[in-house]
Amino acid sequence: MKDQIHVCNDPESLAAYARDWLIRLIEWKQRDEELHGPFVLALAGGSTPKRLMELLAEVPADRLDWKNIILLWGDERNVAIDDPQSNYRMVRESLLDKIDIPAENILAVPNPGGPADAAAKAYEKLLREKLGGKGEFPVVDCVLLGMGDDVHTASLFPGTKALGENKRLAVANLVPKLDTQRITLTAPMINAARNVAFLINGGGKQDALARLWHAPRDPQKYPAQLVRPTEGQLWFLLDKAALGDTPLPESVMVQMI
Ligand code: 6PG
Repeated sequence: MKDQIHVCNDPESLAAYARDWLIRLIEWKQRDEELHGPFVLALAGGSTPKRLMELLAEVPADRLDWKNIILLWGDERNVAIDDPQSNYRMVRESLLDKIDIPAENILAVPNPGGPADAAAKAYEKLLREKLGGKGEFPVVDCVLLGMGDDVHTASLFPGTKALGENKRLAVANLVPKLDTQRITLTAPMINAARNVAFLINGGGKQDALARLWHAPRDPQKYPAQLVRPTEGQLWFLLDKAALGDTPLPESVMVQMI
């Protein structure tokens, strides 16, 4: 399955494109007779997804049935849910407060801000309970990811312990450069997804994207290189500034939107 690279003109058109792309993904699942159950969507943290969340909040209920969508987070800062740094708070303000979604469909990290390991264990328990899954890792329909300028993704940062985790769904991860603990989905949990989509905009990410694609494989230095869906599709939803003049990787499908 070739990686899909879709390039939009600017951050606003990228967010609009990502909204429509996500709606199509949800509709595909609903039409697929072999796939049943709600659409399970893992949200990215940071600032890039905010506009996408705002646009999703404006989609009429007859196009997006939130009762049939389950939300979880790719990672969370270990802060209270009303902390300005909280990824949950970003999604609550830009999306959750504006849509009619059952509380049980919102799988946020339980009790962030206290002992990170306990929060990670509680999150993992919640995911197993709600997402089930016969295999080692529950299959998420779509994991949205951002990427930092150091090629981290979720809270899988260079040189951190979580990079080597290959059994757990989610772990606490000490990030020395930020002097903080994070809670993050692990690489194998991300890679078990049907779709994994990097949503990246801005010239500040151009160099990181070039290293992700073209630097020698070294996930300790470039953790986003760990993202390789086991059976699913990998997507890059970019704006032109993030792509810049970086050569495309081999054997990909590209769409200039
Ligand atoms: C987080 C994210 C992180 C983020 C990147 C990009 O909690 O910060 O999960 O991986 O996606 O750092 O962040 P921006 O979108 O703010 O550039």
